[in-house]
Amino acid sequence: MAILVTGGAGYIGSHTVVELQNAGYDVVVMDNLANASEKVLDRVEAITGKKVPFYKADIRDREGLEEIFTKEKIDSVIHFAGLKAVGESVQKPWEYYDNNITGTLTLVDVMRKHNCKNIIFSSSATVYGNPAFIPITEECPKGQCTNPYGWTKSMLEQVLTDIQYADKEWNVVLLRYFNPIGAHKSGTIGENPNGIPNNLMPYITQVAVGRLPKLNVFGDDYDTPDGTGVRDYIHVVDLALGHVKALQKLEPGCGLSIYNLGTGVGYSVLDIVKNFEEANGVKIPYEIQPRRAGDIATCYSNADKAEKELGWKAQFGIREMCEDSWRWQSNNPNGYDA
Ligand code: NAD
Ligand code: WQD
Repeated sequence: MAILVTGGAGYIGSHTVVELQNAGYDVVVMDNLANASEKVLDRVEAITGKKVPFYKADIRDREGLEEIFTKEKIDSVIHFAGLKAVGESVQKPWEYYDNNITGTLTLVDVMRKHNCKNIIFSSSATVYGNPAFIPITEECPKGQCTNPYGWTKSMLEQVLTDIQYADKEWNVVLLRYFNPIGAHKSGTIGENPNGIPNNLMPYITQVAVGRLPKLNVFGDDYDTPDGTGVRDYIHVVDLALGHVKALQKLEPGCGLSIYNLGTGVGYSVLDIVKNFEEANGVKIPYEIQPRRAGDIATCYSNADKAEKELGWKAQFGIREMCEDSWRWQSNNPNGYDA
């Protein structure tokens, strides 16, 4: 039996495929390559020494999904596929709702027709909105999202919760990621955003590699120790290992579970700049800019539940996150484009 990884050519998906193969799982990847390069899979194969069966397909394409579920023996799905650019989602809400929601509804429908009712879903700390309390536990109420991307995550959590409630054969794990950064130690796979990065770490690495002149720091007047936004950055390999642990939890009768995947530690934007500079001996020029619309001051997790129930705890600290992000970017200044 195999694990289907949707969006498996993407940033988190590719790292998860590595850890799944290392743990001995058979993996099948599907991705429409909307935000990924097929070259990723060659690099994953070079890391693990194992073949990665790949289908170029869209989660909205029922026939494409039918083909995969008919040809492969899929036991469980780890569902990463989705569009994730917050700003773009404000400009293109229909595209985001169609891709993420129609896509997931189609995927889940094909899964149940093939009697595959085990799913791990990539959710996000964004579902907490402006969190009611910090550190954020899974008990924290979901909040108002500030963009359509966030709403797709919040709505899909509800969709999967309702489906599992109605049919107890479903086993569902919702993983709420905090801020993934870093890259595989080999420096051969990593985050490769299209265009100008939205997220902090790829922006910093592109400044470091000379593709961008300086970092814009969005706001220094938040109620935080240095006035800049505080987030819970988590190494992408730790995140990937969290999926391997969650898979072990997907047993008949396990029902629905929700876990935060974070480190429990908050770092400000300027902390990240300083750690990156110290870890890598590279200077990051920056300029303070006004706050970015939709940002909150502080967001970090309490991830004790994942430790208690999954036996998972983030291992990598901020220095390794910074070193590994830089190893990837400096070895691949243009990402997967040679
Ligand atoms: P990514 O863009 O690198 O990976 C997503 C992958 O899905 C891409 O390879 C893309 O080509 C593919 N895809 C998109 N739409 C598809 C479709 N209709 N059919 C098939 N494939 C499709 O993003 P990522 O950072 O690896 O994120 C993975 C998942 O985790 C996403 O669902 C994202 O929303 C979620 N997430 C990401 C973060 C983050 O900060 N990176 C945080 C929380 C949650
Ligand atoms: C981090 C901090 C910025 C860029 C987003 C999504 C969230 C999740 C993770 C998917 C903030 C500051 C950033 C820059 C900056 N994704 N910053 N200059 O906003 O916490 O979360 O990615 O689910 O849904 O909203 O991450 O990396 O964009 O920002 O000063 O050029 O860095 O203001 O304080 P964020 P981020």
